[in-house]
Amino acid sequence: MPDSTTIEGRKLDHIRIVLSEDVAAKGVVTGFAAYRLPHTAIPDLDMDEIDTHTTFLGKSLRAPLLISSMTGGAQAAERINLTLAEAAQQLGLAMGVGSQRAAVADGRLASTYQVRRVAPSIPLLANLGAVQLNYGFGVEHCQRAVDMIEADALILHFNPLQEAVQPEGNVNFKGLLKRIEQVCRELPVPVIAKEVGNGISAADAQRLYAVGVRIIDVAGAGGTSWSEVERFRQPDQQGSQVASTFAGWGLPTTEAIRQIRAVLPAVTLIGSGGIRNGVDIAKALALGADLAATARPALISAVDERGVEAVVEQLQVYIKELRVAMFCSNCGNLAALRALHLTE
Ligand SMILES: Cc1cc2nc3c(=O)[nH]c(=O)nc-3n(C[C@H](O)[C@H](O)[C@H](O)COP(=O)(O)O)c2cc1C
Repeated sequence: MPDSTTIEGRKLDHIRIVLSEDVAAKGVVTGFAAYRLPHTAIPDLDMDEIDTHTTFLGKSLRAPLLISSMTGGAQAAERINLTLAEAAQQLGLAMGVGSQRAAVADGRLASTYQVRRVAPSIPLLANLGAVQLNYGFGVEHCQRAVDMIEADALILHFNPLQEAVQPEGNVNFKGLLKRIEQVCRELPVPVIAKEVGNGISAADAQRLYAVGVRIIDVAGAGGTSWSEVERFRQPDQQGSQVASTFAGWGLPTTEAIRQIRAVLPAVTLIGSGGIRNGVDIAKALALGADLAATARPALISAVDERGVEAVVEQLQVYIKELRVAMFCSNCGNLAALRALHLTE
């Protein structure tokens, strides 16, 4: 049994904690509830003709939804990744795998991320911590992560709060943008910058854009909180006190989406962090996102004994809710939804 000081043990800790503990942000909300989509009693639409197709990384999606990066690096995680990938393939959605650091360092773990055989046509996203670029990783390691899973793009995730409260955290974030500029220049696939639940501000997004990042996943505050997850892994009381102080830290998802879209009209924007139904997805798009993404709810379904069927059913509910929201706000396609103006 891997212990929690190894990467493999940490991955299993994370899954166990996320599934069994209350790891939601506290004292901060996504902001979706404060917005209302404009209801019409007279939609000029046949609901059956509503079109939720979009394009992402040159591939077609049947709905604007991504299953967010979560796992890999442990044998138990392989089943979860395959389950999520098969569901994404069936529904025509995109998917990211969890951080591949472990497998880039130890090739024997690569299979725990490799899902292409069950998801041949989806946009598939590789994942590494951006901070690893300060801990020995370079373009070559990024390329290895992409090749390992035949990915369409590489996510570099930014998780300063998680690293700061984690007992074994990598906390030297100095000078990262310069390294990211090099990755953007030399990697043949697009780089996606992503937070993990504390949000990316407009100012940060502009700095990322300036070094070549063209896709940003806000992963804002109000959903799963990584300081809360790490709270359950603290070896002592002081550590858990520090982590719990940050349960409300970060930029709410809705604010991050609005702020970034206002300053970067051309960036591809993923709205995530606390997406919990199809109305949240509709609001994320109306606020400026191109796609929405969900993590913890998909994990909960993936470990259900019905596996793929449970994930498909859960995400079909989100897609149905999105379609109803579009119908009742008179949006026949995603362009119409994105053109809506929401008020608080
Ligand atoms: C079990 C678990 C593991 C995660 N691991 C990663 C990871 O390796 N890389 C990453 O970029 N984000 C990771 N995340 C963060 C999610 O991708 C997402 O940004 C965050 O959970 C907020 O979304 P949610 O509120 O829908 O859960 C993980 C989330 C969960 C629940």
